[in-house]
Amino acid sequence: MGAHLALVTIFVTLLLHCCNIDYGAYVTAHLSSDLKGFQFFIEKTNDFFNNKKNDLLSNTFRGSPSNRTSSTTTTTTTTTTSTTLMSSSILEIARRPETIEWIKSIRREIHEYPELAYEEFETNRLIRRELDRMGVGYRSPMAGTGIRASVGTGGPPFVGVRADMDALPIQELAEWEHKSKVAGKMHACGHDAHVAMLLGAAKILKNREHHLKGTVVLLFQPAEEAGIGAKRMIEDGALEDVEAIFAAHVSHQHPTSVIGSRSGPLLAGCGFFRAVITRREESSASHTTPHVDTILAASAAVISLQNIVSREANPLDSQVVSVASFNGGGNDIDMADPKTVVLGGTFRAFSNASIHQIRRRIEEVIVEQASVYRCTATVDFFEKKQPIYPPTVNDEQMYEHVKKVALDLLGPNNFNEVPPMMGAEDFSFYSEVVPASAFFYIGTRNETLGSTHSGHSPYFMIDENALPVGAAVHAAIAERYLNEHG
Ligand SMILES: *[C@@H]1O[C@H](CO)[C@@H](O)[C@H](O)[C@H]1NC(C)=O
Ligand SMILES: *[C@@H]1O[C@H](CO)[C@@H](O)[C@H](O)[C@H]1NC(C)=O
Ligand SMILES: *[C@@H]1O[C@H](CO)[C@@H](O)[C@H](O)[C@H]1NC(C)=O
Ligand SMILES: [Zn+2]
Ligand SMILES: [Zn+2]
Repeated sequence: MGAHLALVTIFVTLLLHCCNIDYGAYVTAHLSSDLKGFQFFIEKTNDFFNNKKNDLLSNTFRGSPSNRTSSTTTTTTTTTTSTTLMSSSILEIARRPETIEWIKSIRREIHEYPELAYEEFETNRLIRRELDRMGVGYRSPMAGTGIRASVGTGGPPFVGVRADMDALPIQELAEWEHKSKVAGKMHACGHDAHVAMLLGAAKILKNREHHLKGTVVLLFQPAEEAGIGAKRMIEDGALEDVEAIFAAHVSHQHPTSVIGSRSGPLLAGCGFFRAVITRREESSASHTTPHVDTILAASAAVISLQNIVSREANPLDSQVVSVASFNGGGNDIDMADPKTVVLGGTFRAFSNASIHQIRRRIEEVIVEQASVYRCTATVDFFEKKQPIYPPTVNDEQMYEHVKKVALDLLGPNNFNEVPPMMGAEDFSFYSEVVPASAFFYIGTRNETLGSTHSGHSPYFMIDENALPVGAAVHAAIAERYLNEHG
């Protein structure tokens, strides 16, 4: 019983970690190698709300647009002028003291009452309350507690921006005024901030609706941490007409308001397996047949699984196969060989081909190794309940779009190209349907404030000064996409 419970615990932990953008040893490795970089970034960062506001606004006009300004064609100049006008007026709305106060208060309200996957009823109510106040139309519920709102002409093109809404079963340990009021639940991944930023973008875009050359679709999605809310949103029509889609995640690895992303693979695809290794019937029947040891068979399978990554994978194509549970036998007193042993684990990779190749090899290796030891094995990949997450792969043009918007809006020192990370995101389900997609980070790290803990830590915190900047970035990504594709 105890062992069974432990297995369940391991699986629950795994499922949650799948969606964590911070994953085990890989993140630790990235973190320590990035630490030197942090100091550098911090020195170079112009915070949106420090005394250099004007500096930042002038930064807005540095970088790539100046090249275009010097171009001789009138149309290019006009585009550049309207883009700079767009950037500065979006920033102007985001910087208003009332916007800043409002967006922080939204985030705090959600933070105090965290709700787990598919239970985001109050969060849904709060989002609708704010959309109603702004006069933004929406469809709700979808995927249980999700919302699809739209701003703009109501016609094409349609560009999507997504925020996830769910919290985690973690007891908040950070002490602050707006600490979670629900025991054992916490917004430890920053999805409260994502909702606040997307509502902020809704406010900015509604304010500028007469400028929009198409429709911005705002997706408030439940259950990112567990339950693949993205998949249910898609099934309920969230992506109807949407031709490009973007989403952000807060990150303790980047200083406040610094945007980070990359072209190509950004986050891993991931899946889970559970293998049951059983002694063949005929060999268990009597003591006269040769002894069959299921523990040894399972151990051989575990060792052979290690070879998939170390001997078969291209060393330049990062992959993980990790056995996280091994369960067989009764208790310490019952020394008889168990009839079955159950193995559980996870696997990750950065390409669709690799993740499916690993899946195939895990099954082959376990079944064949079991057979060597005269056992049978079945491997379950939970594909009905928990399909394999595809990797999050940014489209090159959509990545360039995010980068361009961030540079224009925040200046050249507030954008970083980032390495891929082994964490997974259900945003990849949208990307499968809408390949013109990009996922990016927005920094919330502030050493003074202590917002240096990783997502899923009970001490997780964000620098709320990133919220209005995030709202502006979301809004500008969408509005500019429509300008360039409308
Ligand atoms: C843009 O301008 C900068 C500085 O004026 C220059 O270094 C850079 O090469 C230019 N880029 C292009 C693509 O022309
Ligand atoms: C990834 O592979 C799965 C299964 O073969 C397929 O359904 C899906 O469309 C693929 N996704 C991409 C982005 O190629
Ligand atoms: C960090 O937070 C403190 C306290 O809110 C603030 O005074 C400071 O400007 C912030 N620093 C950065 C780099 O954002
Ligand atoms: Zn998470
Ligand atoms: Zn998250």
